[in-house]
This record gives sequence, C-alpha cells and structure tokens, in this order.
Amino acid sequence: MTKSFTPSLFATELKPLSKPAILGGPSACNKAKWIKWPIWVPETDEKRILEVLRSGVWSRSALVNEFEAAWAKANGAKRCLVVNNGTNALITSLNQLKIEAGDEVLVPPYTFISTVQAILMNGAMPVFVDIDPDTFQIDPAKIEAKISPRTKAILPVHILGMPADMPRIMEIAKKHKLIVIEDACQAPLTEVNNQKVGTIGNAGCFSFQNSKNIPIGEGGAILSNDIGFMDRCFSFHNLGLPFGTAVGTFSTGSIRTGTKVRFTEYQAAIGLAQLERLDVQTTIREENANYLKSKIQDIPGIVPYRLYDCATRVSFHLFSFRFKKEDFNGLSRDSFLQALRAEGVPCSGGYTALNKQQFLKEAFGSTNFKRMYPEDMLDYKKYMELNQCPENDVLCTEMVWFTQNLLLGSKEDMDAIAYAITKIQANAESVKKTLEK
Ligand SMILES: Cc1ncc(COP(=O)(O)O)c(C=O)c1O
Repeated sequence: MTKSFTPSLFATELKPLSKPAILGGPSACNKAKWIKWPIWVPETDEKRILEVLRSGVWSRSALVNEFEAAWAKANGAKRCLVVNNGTNALITSLNQLKIEAGDEVLVPPYTFISTVQAILMNGAMPVFVDIDPDTFQIDPAKIEAKISPRTKAILPVHILGMPADMPRIMEIAKKHKLIVIEDACQAPLTEVNNQKVGTIGNAGCFSFQNSKNIPIGEGGAILSNDIGFMDRCFSFHNLGLPFGTAVGTFSTGSIRTGTKVRFTEYQAAIGLAQLERLDVQTTIREENANYLKSKIQDIPGIVPYRLYDCATRVSFHLFSFRFKKEDFNGLSRDSFLQALRAEGVPCSGGYTALNKQQFLKEAFGSTNFKRMYPEDMLDYKKYMELNQCPENDVLCTEMVWFTQNLLLGSKEDMDAIAYAITKIQANAESVKKTLEK
C-alpha cells in the first residue's frame, strides 16, 4: 500500500525536520518530562498506608475485603478474590477450574511468561495458537485447528491492554465445551461490547505489579460470577481451609490441597488509592493512544496495532506498532530503538518468542511430567514442530512498545513522539550509516 507522506515537514505544525538526535541534532522530547510511574499522592496515599501500619492489622482483613468489593464493582463482576500477584491469580484459577495433568490449554505465544507457567504449574500442557498479525492477539481463526480430545481450556490474553476477539473465542469455546480463562493482567477496564474483559469467560485474572495500570508493587485478582468457583479459589489461596460454600465433611482442618498467596492490608490500601485514579487515567491513555496512532500511521514503515470492532474501551498498558525496516532503508529495529531513545522517547522491542524458550524443554524432562504424560507427548522435537507460530516470530522481530506512562502525557508530548519518528524515517539512510557501519 502506498502511503501519502511528506517526510521533509512535520504534519502538525509543518515545521521543518531537524537532524535526528543520534546524528547530533536536538532531541525531540525532554526525557525528564515523562510522567514517572508509579504515581502516588503523598497527602492521601501515605495516610492510608500509615493507618494500616499503626493499626497493627497487616494481614488480610477489612481493607482487603473493601478492595475486592471495589474491583468486582468496577468490573461488574459478582466476586473478586485478590492474591499476591497475577501469576498466582492464573495458577489458582486454572487449579480450581480443574485444569490438570493430561489437559491441553490453548494459549497465544505473544504474552508474558506467567501465562504459560501457570499452565505448566498445574501439570497441564500449553498448546500455542499463533497470533493475528494485525491485532497481535490470539488468532481465533487458528484456534479450532489446535483443538484435540485433550483440550480443556482456552487462555486468551488481552495483550498490551487491547482485547482479544472474545465474541469469536466464546463461540468456539461453547461449540467445543471448553473453559475460558482470560488473562486480563494488562487490561484493567478494557471492554468488549461494553463488557469488561475478565468477566466474559469462566474467570478473569489481573495483575497489580509495579509497571501495571493499577500499580501496587505486587498483587493480582480473580474475577468471576461463579460463586462456587470463587469460594474454592479462596480456599485454595488460603491453604485449602474451608470458605463460603467450599466446605468439607470434616468439622476441622483443610479440605483441599492449597497454597498461601494472600493479599495484605498494605496492598489493599495502595490499591484503593490507585483505583480512585484508574478511570481518568484510562481515558487519558486511550485518547492519547488514538491521537498518537493517527499521527504515525501514515509514516512509511510504521504499522500500528489494529483493534477488533468489538473493542469499546482499551486500557493501553502498552502502545505498540510494527517497525518495517524495508521502509527505513534497511535500518534495523535495534538501531531504530536506539535513535528513538536518543530523541528522548523511552521504548523497547517487547517480547521474544515464548514458545522457543528453554523452560518448556525443562518441564518435559522433569520427573513430574514424565510420570504424567505418555512418552510421545513429551517428544520435544515433535512438540516444537506442532507449536510453531510463524506470525509471532515475525512480530517479535518487528514490535516497538511505549509503556503506558508515556500515554499520560499531553497532546504535545504525542506530537513530539511522532516528530521524533518522522525525523528518523526521513534520515533513515544516514542513521543506518552511522549506527550500522
Ligand atoms: C499478560 C500477563 N500475564 C500475567 C502476568 C503476571 O502477573 P504478575 O507479574 O503480577 O505475576 C503479567 C504481568 O507481568 C502479564 O503481563
């Protein structure tokens, strides 16, 4: 596709392009200006934490209950359970949805490692479904080909804060009677057809890790409308002790195997403070993402994300686009990132191909897996052949990310990012000559 573009002028102000900073020109952005993350308000947030400290009640109690009720309400879910991180929210959900040894779970390769570790930690087998090259999400058109008699669940990830194609995923899940666990760790308040992600499948999992849109340092949550399941999750996260409808036949003691991954009152105090800001911040991020996308989408070699039509709100944990080196005179992505950083724009290349990492081989070679699976299922070479994801391989070499705090800046900040990219693109040849001698 030919794009109309005027490389010698920057479209907003029609200002002549200066030399890229990497070649000695002035940088487009003042790095020090970007909003630091996490944000806290000393007057209110510190008071909340001090109150917890002085109360001496530091383990799970009233504030944790309050935070759970607030997060359930914000999402329109019947119940929420908070745990110590998003990884354990996933592990707990899979465990209590009875994802076990011998089960296969369909998962995209473009995600954080936790999504896949949660499957392995329950003794189940991850089966990778390649991504949609335009939306970067699990490709619904490729799911059915990966379903086998062992398939028990689909684990879509709303990666980068953008929603997966939940209407199609739910349709496939219904047809094949599969469980759906949404990894919404990057997508708080993202919506599909006006419904919050994490409330569409059987369970939804969230992360409150420091870089996330609700930063608590560490923390995670499970949402579901299934009360029995949520009671079992509570029991599991608290050493298998009875809770709610999850009661045993014995009068005392634990009723199931479990772990201890409880949230603390400190975490709840910070979380409640962060929740007060989340809605407004989400709106700002979305407005800036839409604006930035409109400013850069016509630059040759820059191909931003596409959203599914069903996306009605997007949290933009990360702003993303593909970098096409062929439109930048063959400049490598690493050199592009280097040049962009020199302009004062923090950026990264994102994930590497997860389905090719060492941990899968290690899991297959473990005594646990050898006892749980027939030999042919642990043939690593065969597994690798079946789990190739060529679209994801290319994406991992082309992706560029901006973290969400950049999207909390002003429109002028977005203009400055677009200006920086425009400068690099117009001078791609000299940048390449300088950086790739
Ligand atoms: C997509 C995804 N899934 C799971 C997790 C795990 O969350 P946590 O880091 O809170 O354990 C994260 C967060 O890093 C994530 O981005």
